[in-house]
Amino acid sequence: MSKPVDIAPATGKLGVLTPGMGAVATTLFAGVLAARKGLAAPYGSLTQLGHIRLGRRDDARNPLIKDFVPLASLDDLVFGGWDVYSDDAYAAAMKAGVLEPRHIESIGDELRLIEPMAAVFDHQWVRNLNDVDNVKEVEGSKMDQAEALMADIDRFRSEHGVERVVMVWCGSTESYRDPSEVHMDLASFEKGLKESHPDIAPSQIYAYAALQSDVPFANGAPNLTVDIPAMVELAEERGVPISGKDFKTGQTLLKTIVAPGLKARMLGVRGWFSTNILGNRDGEVLDDPESFKSKEVSKLGVLEQILQPELYPELYGELYHKVRINYYPPRGDEKEGWDNIDIFGWLGYPMQIKIDFLCRDSILAAPLALDLALFMDLAHRADRRGIQEWLSFYYKTPQHAPEIYPENDLFIQLTKLKNNLRQMMGEDLITHLGTEYYEK
Ligand SMILES: NC(=O)c1ccc[n+]([C@@H]2O[C@H](COP(=O)([O-])OP(=O)(O)OC[C@H]3O[C@@H](n4cnc5c(N)ncnc54)[C@H](O)[C@@H]3O)[C@@H](O)[C@H]2O)c1
Repeated sequence: MSKPVDIAPATGKLGVLTPGMGAVATTLFAGVLAARKGLAAPYGSLTQLGHIRLGRRDDARNPLIKDFVPLASLDDLVFGGWDVYSDDAYAAAMKAGVLEPRHIESIGDELRLIEPMAAVFDHQWVRNLNDVDNVKEVEGSKMDQAEALMADIDRFRSEHGVERVVMVWCGSTESYRDPSEVHMDLASFEKGLKESHPDIAPSQIYAYAALQSDVPFANGAPNLTVDIPAMVELAEERGVPISGKDFKTGQTLLKTIVAPGLKARMLGVRGWFSTNILGNRDGEVLDDPESFKSKEVSKLGVLEQILQPELYPELYGELYHKVRINYYPPRGDEKEGWDNIDIFGWLGYPMQIKIDFLCRDSILAAPLALDLALFMDLAHRADRRGIQEWLSFYYKTPQHAPEIYPENDLFIQLTKLKNNLRQMMGEDLITHLGTEYYEK
């Protein structure tokens, strides 16, 4: 065993702030409030339900993760957020249509108290949101907008008496833009904020405000937010953790479960066609090609990395990968995703796999947002700063150091996460060697 890392205790309340109080955020709030009252169970959440093996298999030590590492408890969470619409969390949850009204009613009084703060928003970055009624009118530059957000965070801290705060981006997907000069270092970014540079997105203004306020930032959407050099520099300088991007739910979750299995058995993949229909506001935003481009980039990368066609050209060199998202209002949040996978085996004989996943987007995403809030807070108390690669498990496009490729295989990601927890607590890392049981 090694020495445990010094981790500050999880005393007092933890504020969880979400820019964006739509389907995912309100499902997160409602689920935690309901679990707190014993009305529902937090299925899907590793921090709440997961166990971790410690030591040898015959030691039979398998505590719950939440009993092993010092995490904030659900009772200590206080929620808040920003949105471009002024609906409180009760009204927003009703409109999102993820949860049934009877579930929302059971915690309705608490949800009504969560009112969105006025948002920093720019229509150019999310074109399909109209008639917004809760946007900050800040005189001056993007730096002034960032300062207004920092003032919001301070006010939230003192009004709710929270000891620590984390921020999880649950806002709409912004338009795709490649990073430019203004993102390359902190000095250029701050100059860009003062000059209201057009390449600085609202989500980046939130992230800047968070990091300056000692608040870890996790990005649940596919837009470039903390994965730019300027933000990595700021996070390291301020000693704050960052992670992203894009919650790994639905079709991509299944992809990163199935693809490692096919590759492990050296089965070839000729084509992978993914299409889905969804009718929530996220689907409406993604109906705009500019926002879809951010999502497409994030969804396409995973197969390439898992299958490594450069190492296995005969198995994956010809892979045709296509992803489609179709906005179809009758389905609401109840997305349906189809995958057709053309594979081949021994002597090149073709086979097909069809997956029809009738999923619920926000039901899959809410526990990820919860786990990220709790683990990002843990990381901060353990004095981990900058990119938190160990949280790749939660993301479609895990943020990583520039010189390496990201790890997308769900099972490697889980091993990585658990080994990081073991390392924090001074436990032996698990190698799965297994020879120790056969030594005389
Ligand atoms: N649900 C999932 O399974 C899933 C999976 C991966 C990623 N995501 C991403 O998570 C994000 C949230 O998803 P959702 O289903 O809750 O979407 P949603 O449309 O229901 O909610 C997003 C909210 O963000 C608000 N918003 C937009 N710009 C804002 C800004 N600048 N400041 C404050 N609020 C702003 C919108 O008004 C909206 O209420 C999306 O980017 C989505 O792509 C969701």
